[in-house]
Order: sequence, then C-alpha cells, then structure tokens
Amino acid sequence: MKITIIGTGFVGVVSAAVYASFGHTVVGLDIDDAKVASLRQGKVPFYEPGLEELLLDQQATGNLSFTTSYKNAVSDADIVIIAVGTPSTEEGKANLAYLYAATESLAEFIKKGAIIVVKSTVPPGTLEAVDKILKKTTTVEYELASVPEFLREGTAVHDTLNPDRIVLGASKKSVFEVLEELHKPLNAPVVKVTPESAQMGKYAANAYLATRITFINQIADLCEHNGADVQEVIAAIGLDKRVGGHYWYPGFGYGGSCFPKDVKELAYYSRTVGEGHNLFNKVNELNSGRIDRLLMGFGKKIGEWEDKKVAVLGLSFKPNTDDMRDAPSTKVVPWLAEHTTTISGYDPKATDAAKIVLKDTPIVLESSIEAAVQDADVIISLIEWDEIVAHDYGSTKAKKKQFFIDARNQFDPKIIEKWGYTYLGVGRN
Ligand SMILES: NC(=O)c1ccc[n+]([C@@H]2O[C@H](COP(=O)([O-])OP(=O)(O)OC[C@H]3O[C@@H](n4cnc5c(N)ncnc54)[C@H](O)[C@@H]3O)[C@@H](O)[C@H]2O)c1
Repeated sequence: MKITIIGTGFVGVVSAAVYASFGHTVVGLDIDDAKVASLRQGKVPFYEPGLEELLLDQQATGNLSFTTSYKNAVSDADIVIIAVGTPSTEEGKANLAYLYAATESLAEFIKKGAIIVVKSTVPPGTLEAVDKILKKTTTVEYELASVPEFLREGTAVHDTLNPDRIVLGASKKSVFEVLEELHKPLNAPVVKVTPESAQMGKYAANAYLATRITFINQIADLCEHNGADVQEVIAAIGLDKRVGGHYWYPGFGYGGSCFPKDVKELAYYSRTVGEGHNLFNKVNELNSGRIDRLLMGFGKKIGEWEDKKVAVLGLSFKPNTDDMRDAPSTKVVPWLAEHTTTISGYDPKATDAAKIVLKDTPIVLESSIEAAVQDADVIISLIEWDEIVAHDYGSTKAKKKQFFIDARNQFDPKIIEKWGYTYLGVGRN
C-alpha cells in the first residue's frame, strides 16, 4: 500500500518508520522544512530510543521518504494518515487549527477511494468537520476513519511494534478491512468501533491513567499526616486483582505532551456538552496545583528554600525522551528561581531542549550529575532516568547537612540516609 503520514513529529515519524518496515511505501510529510531536511538525512530531530536505527534501515530499503510537497505525497496515496499536533488552548479547548490546515492542503490531491485517517487526538465530532472541509474542495469519493495512537514517548518504537490493542474507528466494512490488513503484522487485538468511540477511547485511556496518578497522590498526601508510607500502601492494594500493582506513580504529578492536554480537553469537552461538574476538571485542578504545594511543604522540612543551592536532576517529562512539554522541571525551576538563588540542573538527553525552554530562569545546566550536585544543599531527583537512579550519591556527598528530595519515590530511603543525606520522598515519613 502507499501510505502518507502528515505531520512528522513524535507520532508521525514512528508510525511512518513502522509502516515502512511492513513493506509499504511510506511518505512522511511536514511543513517544517528543517525537520524534513533532517529526516531526509536519517537524523531524528528529537531523542527516542531505537528510532534513528529504524528510520535509517527503512530509508535504505527505499520504502520510506520525506517531503514538504502535498501534491507529491498525497496524489497516489491509498491511505493518508493525519498526525499533526492538537495542543490545547489555555481554557482546554483542543486547538484543531493544524488538523484543519492539513485537511485543506490535502483535499485537492486526494485519489479516488483513498482513506483519510485521523490519528491525532481529537474530540468526538471532528471527523464530520474534516469531511466538510474536504467536500469544499474535492468531488472524488474518499473514506474517513479515526485511528487513535497509544504509544508512549521513551518506548515509542517498542509500543508501536507491540501494541496492547489497535483501535479502528470507522463506519464501513470495507474501511475496517483495509485498516485491519495494514495492522495485521502487529498481531494485536483489534477493536472495531465507531469513530466517536475511538476518539472517546483515546481520551478515556489517558484520563484514566492521569486519574490513577492523581488518586495515589491524594493517598500519598494523607500518608504524610499519619506515618503511613504510600509505597507500603501500594503493596497493600496492588495484589487485589481488581486494583493491580502496576502503574502507581506517587510524586509531583503527571506531565508531558499528552496527559495534561488530554485531561484538560476532556474537561473542556464535558463543559461544552453540559457535563462540566465532573472528575476531569478536578483532576486537572489538583495536578496543576501540585508542584507548588509540594515545594512549599518541602520548604518547611528543609528550613525554607532561601539561600539554598538546589540541584535538579531530570529535566525532560519522563526518562528516555528529550521532550519537555509540560515537564515537571518547567514548573519546578521557575518556582525555585523565585524562592532561592542558585539552581543547577542535569539531564542525560534534554540539555539542548532545556536551554531553550528554561532560558528565562537562572538554572546552570551541567554536563554531569557530579557537576550539578556539587555543593548542593538540596538535590531533587525529578525524573527517574537510569543514570540518575543508579548514581552513587555517597561519592558526591559534600556538605554536612544535605537534603535529597525523591520526587518519584525511586530510591531506597535507607541507602540515601546511609550516604548521609536527609531523605524526603512523597507520602513517605
Ligand atoms: N507524543 C505522544 O506521545 C503522543 C501519543 C499519542 C497521541 N499523540 C497525539 O498525536 C498527535 C501528534 O502528536 P506529536 O507529539 O507527534 O506532535 P508534534 O508536535 O511532535 O508533531 C506534529 C507535527 O505536525 C507538523 N504539522 C503541523 N501542521 C502541519 C500541516 N498543516 N501539515 C503538515 N505537517 C504539519 C508539525 O510541524 C510537527 O512536526 C497529537 O494529537 C497528540 O495528542 C501524541
């Protein structure tokens, strides 16, 4: 099959490389000239483990190419997959401007019978809007589908090759058949539903995971009042099969390019349909205020932040990515800048991104953990990169009184204390 992917960001590049690896002819299209130039040279403009290797392999086979030309990319495509960004506005409305612009640009080149697939995360009803835009320009017959993406950055290639499920949203048997054939090599369960169910399924998955994080954070906050340890509470509930022991992350709250945006968009959507008095608004509110609240609490435990030298380790939103969209560091560092004087930082891969995103803060970005933690009064392990968790902080202990804030409860408090630090976790006394 000839497949075109519009938008070569995190989702687009991974999908393009994976579909090419199934033997299809895939064209990745973007309006960002620099991004396309870089991809053409086999360079992925962001960090994602295993992606550059897959990209190079597929370019070498001739199955995968990149362009900025809609005409070249769309004219003979059997399937056109739209994977452009859908950031949310301040109030939480999904900004569909990029999706609509891409739809307008592709409309005049659609081949008869092509399937236009929306992979971007969008609210229910978006496919009708896409249909209207296409019909303004083209008279050829085409099909529409919604195929949401569930990959996680940091493990995106693995997730795309080994998905838990493929969700296909369409209304015609013939469309399901083509899309099932496309995803057959993945050997994953296929869920065939309406486009609206597919769109709601994507929001529901992320809202549930964000709610789970918010739930355990609430439990962690209560533990602070009574001597319980939230990690022990997780052990106590996790063996209950209805609950499960996986995916419990008490800490500074969820961040990243998807959860905050998708929860806000679901909350906004709920309000627009008259269901605004609900959980999603509250989850968003609790998560948004969490970092300020925790940092103020830690301030009391360390004897206030003023005049402390603070080392922040892990600046991306999660390990194994350099994506800083809604990363905890983007809240923690500006907050510290207002409450203390000296801030150093380290991240294994996100230093270049941090230079841009944190440019208005006084953080000094260092090239090693050793340099970042030197003379620090407080070390904050914000994101659990392997390198950060495996580091021997005993060898870098410099002062008599040093605090170690474990923002994701990744360390053994006994070892940190043995090294001479005062350990401060989340929901652990
Ligand atoms: N990043 C994730 O982990 C993830 C996971 C699941 C779903 N999603 C969803 O997938 C979608 C894409 O996310 P992303 O993180 O890959 O976005 P991104 O911002 O990394 O990439 C989007 C790309 O679209 C390009 N673009 C914008 N307008 C265009 C146009 N008119 N024509 C061609 N290209 C255009 C941009 O230049 C950019 O390269 C979003 O809806 C997101 O919510 C993302």
